[in-house]
Amino acid sequence: MIGQASEDVLILAIESSCDETAAAVVKNGRTVLSNVISSQIATHTVYGGVVPEIASREHIKAVNYVIERALAEAQVALEDITAIGVTYGPGLVGALLVGVAEAKAIAYAAGKPLIGVHHIEGHVSANFIENQDLEPPFVCLIVSGGHTHLVIVKDYGEFEIIGRTRDDAAGEAFDKVARSVGLGYPGGPKIDKTAKEGNPHAIQFPRGRVEGAPYDFSFSGLKSAVLNHINHARMTGEEIHVPDLVASFQNSVVESLVSRAILAAHEFGYKKLAIAGGVASNSALRKAVAEACEKDGLQFYYPSPIFCTDNAAMIGTAAYYEYLKGNISGWDLNAIPNLKLGER
Ligand code: KG4
Ligand code: ZN
Repeated sequence: MIGQASEDVLILAIESSCDETAAAVVKNGRTVLSNVISSQIATHTVYGGVVPEIASREHIKAVNYVIERALAEAQVALEDITAIGVTYGPGLVGALLVGVAEAKAIAYAAGKPLIGVHHIEGHVSANFIENQDLEPPFVCLIVSGGHTHLVIVKDYGEFEIIGRTRDDAAGEAFDKVARSVGLGYPGGPKIDKTAKEGNPHAIQFPRGRVEGAPYDFSFSGLKSAVLNHINHARMTGEEIHVPDLVASFQNSVVESLVSRAILAAHEFGYKKLAIAGGVASNSALRKAVAEACEKDGLQFYYPSPIFCTDNAAMIGTAAYYEYLKGNISGWDLNAIPNLKLGER
């Protein structure tokens, strides 16, 4: 069905910041016409984590194909696209560059506006896809492989950061603990699955807190406690019950995240709480936030797991709101690996 009503805004979005090459077509910000994701997990598994140089090369191999698929699945021709959205940071510089160069080339050749999108703004925007009623302001807990932030989403693309991790990101803690018990990469989903067989109260791990900063997170003490537990067990010849260990670890992370998110919603006077990022697909976290929100009369918003982990639909949604604000990028758009939240 080529040819949309002229007032429709169709964004072709590209995401390549880490180990997923993704493209999507999103209509009017909230309707996903296609969402194609090519994962590099199988390639990186043998190395136990993402190898940046390999990630860049895999993106180059996959990027044209995922874009063609995204347009075909959406049944949209390139000339019907209103603008091209692309993640330009934060992320792995070589990986980001593939998406940015591709988006620039397509936008220039097709005469379309280019919109650089902040990856984390994309994660937050994933909440708009399936919650048509959700509008800012609201509190959002952002938990990904590289970020752990508690923010107030003041408006589309406008964030006030009220808490952040002082050391590891939540996803990073999942990945490191998974590696230490031999569950491998990617750690988050493996711990999520294995923890279902374990007792979350079997081992009392610390709940990291930062003195004088009630909304900040710290996971390095927890990570050390897990490693100490493993080393101690190995030295004394005790058997490690992996499901109990990872369930107890996960429980500690979840409690830290939930308690601060709920406190923030109350203290800052918001009735809506959303979660975003890869770790937001964690089943124990989703359950715990849902229960806490129910108990405290807060409305809980969360994306489906496929929109929590890296995808381009969320980038298309964020790009749509940037487009409405007139935030069009220049042809000098570059990859910014350490782009801060709230910066453009
Ligand atoms: O948002 P994301 O896909 O990429 C980044 O922007 O970082 O997040 C990836 C992170 C990884 O650390 C991964 O282990 C974690 O999200 N993750 C999970 C789950 N699925 C992905 N962590 C816990 N439970 C999960 N089910
Ligand atoms: Zn991400």
